[in-house]
Amino acid sequence: MKALPADDPRSFAAQASVHCAYCDGSYSPEGFPGVELQVHNSWLFFPFHRCYLYFFERILGSLIGDPSFAIPFWNWDAPDGMRMPAMYTDRSSQLFDPRRDGRHAPPKLIDLDYSGREPRFTDNQQIDHNLRVMYRQMVSLSPTPSLFFGSAYRAGDEPNQGPGPVENIPHGPVHIWCGDPNQPGREDMGNFYSSGNDPLFYAHHANIDRMWSVWKGLDARRHTDLTDPDWLGASFLFYDETPKLVRIRVRDVLDTGVLRYRYQDVPLPWRAARP
Ligand code: C2O
Repeated sequence: MKALPADDPRSFAAQASVHCAYCDGSYSPEGFPGVELQVHNSWLFFPFHRCYLYFFERILGSLIGDPSFAIPFWNWDAPDGMRMPAMYTDRSSQLFDPRRDGRHAPPKLIDLDYSGREPRFTDNQQIDHNLRVMYRQMVSLSPTPSLFFGSAYRAGDEPNQGPGPVENIPHGPVHIWCGDPNQPGREDMGNFYSSGNDPLFYAHHANIDRMWSVWKGLDARRHTDLTDPDWLGASFLFYDETPKLVRIRVRDVLDTGVLRYRYQDVPLPWRAARP
């Protein structure tokens, strides 16, 4: 993927730009010139990123000739995953990105509600803190679909109507924690336009995507997808692996089984971290 020329839609450079295209004022929604299109800070957050990862994964699978390839998830919600995963921090690997915060290389533990200031926790306190953050965002603040997914954002609306709890924290803080504080905009991970340049982005977002599945499993009766037709019918354009430009709708991505993946069932230690 990295070796392909940048004008090939399947190249890493082009794939990284897809993220930029859907935020930071790059485009307007169809039919609303002058209005900014923004897939963050609203109910489009979870489905847009699922679509993005879906095509990214298919492209990678086709390039390596293995259609069963799956992007790994960075399991930052469990103690053993609360460090930058080693496979991304080996300088000789294609998964490495020099534009990261050097202070946060392993064995530093992540702070899931990092605000730009280094917390003064022992490792055990940091783990405990992170588990409480997860409980708060996934359980206390996310009792209903409309609270979990974030504010409605319909064609023609102003962007940034309001993120759901998980988009807000830990999604945002993990970005900031990874990005390089010596870059003007904390590139790569600390900024929308550049974060797709860091291979770690896709592992971070795989875990965010997993949180959507996990949340639904926490309470099968009350934790359902939204049913608003404006959400179900919202659509995005992506290049598939052939590469052809295709349109995908939110309603197409609600069942990960249809997208041919399912998350490994790993423990959720934060479920017991009720404050
Ligand atoms: Cu599109 Cu984690 O941001």
